[in-house]
Amino acid sequence: MNPINVGLLGIGTVGGGTFAVLERNADEIARRAGRPIRINVVADKNLELAKKVTGGRCRLTDDAFAVVGDPDVDIVVELIGGCGVARELMLKAIENGKHVVTANKALLANHGNEIFAAAQRQGVTVAFEAAVAGGIPIIKALREGLTANRIEWIAGIINGTTNFILSEMRGKGLPFDAVLAEAQRLGYAEADPTFDIEGIDAAHKLTIMSAIAFGNSMKFSEAYIEGISRLDSSDIKYAERFGYRIKLLGITRRMPEGVELRVHPTLIPDKRLIANVEGAMNAVLVKGDAVGATLYYGKGAGAEPTASAVIADLVDVARMLTADPEHRVPHLAFQPDAIVDLPILPIAEVVTSYYLRMRVADQPGVLADITRILADHQISIDAMIQHEPDEGEEQTDIIMLTHQTREKNVDDAIVRIEKLPVITGSVVRIRLERLL
Ligand code: HSE
Repeated sequence: MNPINVGLLGIGTVGGGTFAVLERNADEIARRAGRPIRINVVADKNLELAKKVTGGRCRLTDDAFAVVGDPDVDIVVELIGGCGVARELMLKAIENGKHVVTANKALLANHGNEIFAAAQRQGVTVAFEAAVAGGIPIIKALREGLTANRIEWIAGIINGTTNFILSEMRGKGLPFDAVLAEAQRLGYAEADPTFDIEGIDAAHKLTIMSAIAFGNSMKFSEAYIEGISRLDSSDIKYAERFGYRIKLLGITRRMPEGVELRVHPTLIPDKRLIANVEGAMNAVLVKGDAVGATLYYGKGAGAEPTASAVIADLVDVARMLTADPEHRVPHLAFQPDAIVDLPILPIAEVVTSYYLRMRVADQPGVLADITRILADHQISIDAMIQHEPDEGEEQTDIIMLTHQTREKNVDDAIVRIEKLPVITGSVVRIRLERLL
């Protein structure tokens, strides 16, 4: 059968991995797809690099717009990233009737509604397995494997850089800044690590999963996002004393009033499998009403793990080329006319448990003052430790875990606690999920 011709935009890490795996496993992939899949043109600004990676075994150009208009290209693979030229190229490819495979989470989270609507109009597919959790086939699982279920919630470690940093902080007892520097030296974290450490990358991926899980439109701008840059190693140690680990989780949950969409450091019981996901690995826990909890684990980044997802999409697109658009798996799992507009709940309305740490004067009545304020705001204490003051110190740390309560109750209580004269500095608050 005639090969499927692919135009590859961007031959960086993932592009290079895609080229290598497609060549190495060409026979196996052709047996699965029913016809060969070959990259016949690569566009990259760096033609020297493109020549080196491809060995000159396909056409090369520095004009990506020529590729999206090339009549010899059946599928465009977009691996440029970002929301600038990548968006223009993707819309142009769709307009030209090309199917698109992309790893671009930022673009889909911010402009997915526009892109999927355009693809729908043109009867083409935009496939994006590689955009979430790299090599883990989580989009396939959510959209197809779990299709019988009403999905209740998803909680994922979906950023490897931050999971590496948290693992090292816990394992070596090092502060955040020192571990970030190590992550940069090892090449895990970018020179500008903001998207990773401030939770933005995780929020992009979470937004995509949430839309698929609940058949909701993409609402990245309404996500609550808190990263790990202000996390103190002492909180990781205290959490361990209670039997918890701290992970940067992306959580999305369907509630009667709307959808929770939030990324933040989270205490989780150390007995949970997901609490033991260490280093740069990713894991996604999905709770469906029929299947219960399911866990997906693997490499969330890197050349060949991400290429694995890109090529899976290429094979999917190759297989469905002859299917009518109405008979294809819908982009967001639900039929386009069944996508709804569920509100995203403000973080103040989220109900969860909390870890609270406060620095207090070691004198009579302090605990009574604090517990009175918590009681006034309907916050029930689940566990508590008071750190014995160091020799000569007159202050100490009190650490509490609370039962579930609405976040605004905690906000109000913290304002009052911080006004007590016996409290020094701010109250540290970290959300806690039992993931049951
Ligand atoms: N920078 C991401 C991570 C990988 O650290 O997991 C690409 O999304």
